[in-house]
Amino acid sequence: MSKWKIGLVGTGWWSEKHLGAWQRIEGVQIQALCDRDPERLAAKAGRYGVREADRYGDLASMLANADIDIVDIVTGPDTHVELVRQAAAAGKHILCQKPFARNEEEAREMVELARAAGVRLMVTENWRWLSRFRTIKRLLDEGRCGKLHAIRYIHSDYYTPRMRPDALLPQPFFREMPRLLFYEMGAHWYDTWRFLFGTPSRLYAETASVSPYVRGEDAGIVALGYDDGRYGYMDMSWATRQKLDAPLGEDVGPVHLEQMIVDGEDGSIKLYADGAIGLVRRDGGGESTVLEAHPLDHEESHVRLQSHFIQCLADGLPFETSGEDNLTTLRMIFGTYESAAGHVPVYFNREEREAT
Ligand SMILES: NC(=O)c1ccc[n+]([C@@H]2O[C@H](COP(=O)([O-])OP(=O)(O)OC[C@H]3O[C@@H](n4cnc5c(N)ncnc54)[C@H](O)[C@@H]3O)[C@@H](O)[C@H]2O)c1
Repeated sequence: MSKWKIGLVGTGWWSEKHLGAWQRIEGVQIQALCDRDPERLAAKAGRYGVREADRYGDLASMLANADIDIVDIVTGPDTHVELVRQAAAAGKHILCQKPFARNEEEAREMVELARAAGVRLMVTENWRWLSRFRTIKRLLDEGRCGKLHAIRYIHSDYYTPRMRPDALLPQPFFREMPRLLFYEMGAHWYDTWRFLFGTPSRLYAETASVSPYVRGEDAGIVALGYDDGRYGYMDMSWATRQKLDAPLGEDVGPVHLEQMIVDGEDGSIKLYADGAIGLVRRDGGGESTVLEAHPLDHEESHVRLQSHFIQCLADGLPFETSGEDNLTTLRMIFGTYESAAGHVPVYFNREEREAT
């Protein structure tokens, strides 16, 4: 069987996870790389053994010259519409990084471009593929909690207060983003929330800008409501001090700690900041460990996500996070900003729900 040949655009920070994962997936070949920064391009091409002839400074020349089936887009959202347009016109299947788009119109445009060209389009929402969330999903599917009452999701980091202008950051563009936390990370959180609990009917958000070193918001809470009585909240901050096992050090990078509590009629799931997951049964008598402590397993999440992408291409099955599916995740992201700006609740699919 011939291999699926990948052409990746954007050989920056996060591309290491994509390339590391592609290298581990059977039936896949990293064929070509593209970046407008020649140094970054050369560094990754050398590391992953991509020959000189398959290194490109722009997508148009990669599409015109490289023998590829798939374009893996690992650039920021401001570039996505143009890159998706070119890749779709060339008949390539597309894997596109989050945040998928700068607004809902652009997202719809990309979905339509792919549909009209007859190519498949999936968004790289890897958070839901982390071990901890796959484990929680399995427990929920097995009915270990029964009917759910409440969901609490907490994310903490002491990141933005350390982003002084002289600090070296893996993603320096965070400083200038007008919408930071619930756009950049909200893409992960809302996609994961929808994967585990389904799309809520409404949300209400309060956000804050704490660090003087970033333009956008770096903290906020969101209350989420369902018509069946379940509720949830998110308490997310990149500007909260936290207990660490080791000093933070001079290198300014993320130290994301995530906790979740899911309460149901028959049991509760507890995700601790060290990644361990416990299950408490209905009678509350003791907690069993379902998953041992572990760090966020990003590369493994990419192996699972990219394997799923390839499997769905091969079998014609639907993607978990198609471009179309991501429209709802984006609606929750932009709804968060609408709610926080106007101090109003934002409803999802209200017309549809009222009609039924
Ligand atoms: N899924 C995750 O967990 C995760 C983690 C980090 C970043 N991301 C996302 O990945 C995207 C990239 O982030 P990053 O941190 O790797 O950024 P980065 O700036 O380190 O890398 C982006 C690269 O794309 C190149 N580029 C940009 N536009 C291009 C174009 N039109 N043609 C060719 N090359 C182009 C740049 O030169 C740069 O090398 C962002 O959308 C970010 O949100 C996702």
